[in-house]
Amino acid sequence: SEPGLVERAKAARAALGEKVFVLGHHYQRDEVIAFADVTGDSFKLAKEAAARPDAPWIVFCGVHFMAESADILTSDEQTVILPDLAAGCSMADMAQIHQVEDAWDDLVEAGVADDTIPVTYMNSAAAIKAFTGRHGGTICTSSNAKSALSWAFSQAGDGRVEGGTGKVLFLPDQHLGRNTWARDLGGSLEDCVVFDPHRPMGGLTRQQLQDARMILWRGHCSVHGRFTLEAVEQARREIPGVKVIVHPECRHEVVEAADEVGSTEKIIKTVAAAPDGTKWVVGTELNLVKRLAAEFPRQQIAFLEKNVCYCSTMNRIDLPHLVWALESLVDGRVVNPIKVDEDVAHYARVALDQMLALPG
Ligand code: 13P
Ligand code: SF4
Repeated sequence: SEPGLVERAKAARAALGEKVFVLGHHYQRDEVIAFADVTGDSFKLAKEAAARPDAPWIVFCGVHFMAESADILTSDEQTVILPDLAAGCSMADMAQIHQVEDAWDDLVEAGVADDTIPVTYMNSAAAIKAFTGRHGGTICTSSNAKSALSWAFSQAGDGRVEGGTGKVLFLPDQHLGRNTWARDLGGSLEDCVVFDPHRPMGGLTRQQLQDARMILWRGHCSVHGRFTLEAVEQARREIPGVKVIVHPECRHEVVEAADEVGSTEKIIKTVAAAPDGTKWVVGTELNLVKRLAAEFPRQQIAFLEKNVCYCSTMNRIDLPHLVWALESLVDGRVVNPIKVDEDVAHYARVALDQMLALPG
């Protein structure tokens, strides 16, 4: 990017001092990460936003659902700014509130709603989080999904995970739900059903809903959904001794074939702790993989698939947008504020607070 923009970003930051706090998700471009006060996965950034009572302006370099969550977790006097409003998330868009309300009606109709607790991935609109709060559920991220699911099953039905009667409605990422159930809780894939919001009753029978333990929403990440088992096998053939590390939004067969699975923060920490000479292929967004390769030159770090795989919405936040947001603040104008409706924010906060209260 133009050197002039770097100077302008520095000048705006200096002029704003402590009044602005810049958060950057690990999938952001290097040019944006350079100006972040804190970088993190979505759980760490939510906690950081909640822990910053002084800064009146929080510039969130990430995607819309993260900025909404930060708005919900910060005080009314603070304003969260998303430098480009088009930075959404295709997965979050796969669960619309009217679809989720209709699905809940189907669960009521099938006689299973009373035994069901919703667990909603952070990657969702605030309205879906509010639904979760109203129905006694919790939010989770990829770094606490195991703890969230264990907690939810302790609240559902007879409170037992193994052989219990409780169910979880997992929104909106079927892969994270399935992977957490099977890998972390030792659950059987036969206990999972996929609820398709575009079909009557989710495309399921009453009996299927009654027999299921995990009702997985039919959503996925368009980036992580592209990683394949074949790519893992190819890497193992071509790079002797390679270790495969992937994000839990990847498909189940990919996660099963990997050596390590974790959130973006965990991927970074795992690579950072590995000895020189370790060979990795990494199955997550490309900005992060490239940064890892640059930061740990004594290890061999490659991308799991050969085809380019940026998250196009994460990439919408670039230095020109960040400079625009910061310079506007210097001029006394707040651009792109993210303000969640009060009623929605109240119940979404119930579900987010439940997540923050989870053990571990
Ligand atoms: P993390 O919580 O691991 O940072 O993941 C967020 C995300 O959007 C992954 O696609
Ligand atoms: Fe959404 Fe996937 Fe992009 Fe994460 S990587 S923000 S889940 S589209």
